[in-house]
Amino acid sequence: MLHTPVCDLLGIRQPIVLGGMGTATNPELVAAVSNAGGLGILSVSNQPADQQRADVARIRELTGRPFGLNHLLFQAHEDRLAATVECRPNVFSTAWPWPEQDLKLYAKMARQAGALFMHMVSTVQEAKRAADAGADIIVAQGTEGGGHVGWMGSLPLVPMVVEAVQPIPVLAAGGVANGQGLAAALALGADGVLLGTRFMATPEAPIAQGYKEAIVEHDGHDTFLTEIPDIAQGRVWPGAMSRVARNRFIERWAGREWEVRQRRAEISKAMMQARASGDKEESSLSMGQTAGLINDIVPAGQLVERIAAEAEAIIRGRLTSALR
Ligand SMILES: Cc1cc2nc3c(=O)[nH]c(=O)nc-3n(C[C@H](O)[C@H](O)[C@H](O)COP(=O)(O)O)c2cc1C
Repeated sequence: MLHTPVCDLLGIRQPIVLGGMGTATNPELVAAVSNAGGLGILSVSNQPADQQRADVARIRELTGRPFGLNHLLFQAHEDRLAATVECRPNVFSTAWPWPEQDLKLYAKMARQAGALFMHMVSTVQEAKRAADAGADIIVAQGTEGGGHVGWMGSLPLVPMVVEAVQPIPVLAAGGVANGQGLAAALALGADGVLLGTRFMATPEAPIAQGYKEAIVEHDGHDTFLTEIPDIAQGRVWPGAMSRVARNRFIERWAGREWEVRQRRAEISKAMMQARASGDKEESSLSMGQTAGLINDIVPAGQLVERIAAEAEAIIRGRLTSALR
């Protein structure tokens, strides 16, 4: 069985974490991952504090295992952060602060919540900042990932972050969807992996069926780094682009961002309606390059078990047999 120090730190059986993902995580998905021995993280950035409390109660109905709550720091709301402290998750997970935000404040909130402080970064500089602030676990996210990402690929970024922040455990994110990715992440010095896109193609994920099917259909070569969805929604992310599927919506507006800014309300409304109805061509579909590795829609718990078993088989088989 696979076991790394982060398993003991987090109280989990498999070093596999579900990333908190905007509106793409819910209590059912979180609990399914945690019940299977991984760590489920719920994104609470987009929900009012009362909804967060209700969701946490639901997670606790569904699982007695550890779970985390995730905030996007650049748009952090005081009352939502306070609700997280009150909810006492096992992990207080954060990402994407502005340079002027003091990460130590969030480390302190995590301590008040009795939680471990996990922070996601896309550069070595950000990783050092998280380490200085007292992060317990650092997630190194490569540009292959779905949603908002930086510019460095996971293959160079993960070992650089591991080296820069040791002995703080690092999770590799971006480009991991199966046991090959988990085994590779361990070889790079990470203690485990955090996955987004793979967990969206599950029955539990709260996204339209058409979106799940699009992930299965896409071959991973046709994603695109863009600011179009953020411009349409009037959001400014600190230094990230959004990795989405290249579809009719994106093709129409790429290079005409000025017009998206001008017609923002109309374009955003149409985009959100298309997303809700599962229209694969007219919505913005965040997904990573791992779409090319995702060929089925399977329950999240099965995925955790499958990824762990695949990684173990690779380490025992192919990697061990490469030794002379
Ligand atoms: C639709 C979507 C929404 C996301 N929203 C968040 C978020 O709110 N907070 C966060 O820390 N990461 C977010 N992420 C990033 C994931 O946590 C994770 O780092 C990324 O998906 C890993 O790459 P992968 O998609 O190749 O697995 C999001 C990813 C996706 C695909």
